[in-house]
Amino acid sequence: MANITFSSPAMKKDITVYAVAGDRRSLLAVAQENQVPIHYECQDGECGSCAVQVLPLSGKGPKGVHLTEKEKTVLLLSGKVSKEELARLEVTDVAPEWRLACQYMLLDDDILVKF
Ligand code: FES
Repeated sequence: MANITFSSPAMKKDITVYAVAGDRRSLLAVAQENQVPIHYECQDGECGSCAVQVLPLSGKGPKGVHLTEKEKTVLLLSGKVSKEELARLEVTDVAPEWRLACQYMLLDDDILVKF
């Protein structure tokens, strides 16, 4: 089970929701289900409008993850990640802070999502 806390000036207060282990929904799907107003358009990793900051709360640091080429390209073109960060990702598998909510698949980590 993972706690996902959403925080944004667009909300009156932070919202924490619980995701069950093995939940294979996207972060955007969980946000929508809980009326968290993350902006989105394509829901397919192409427009970049759902970019959010994902910060680990477990104290273990971010887990190794795989970003799709689509997500890497959109984050790079939107200036959310640098070429250097992407190069580091290839070596360390440590995800950048900025992610696309529609492409981010839930893990078992507690996270803070800022948008
Ligand atoms: S909604 Fe377009 S990239 Fe996520």
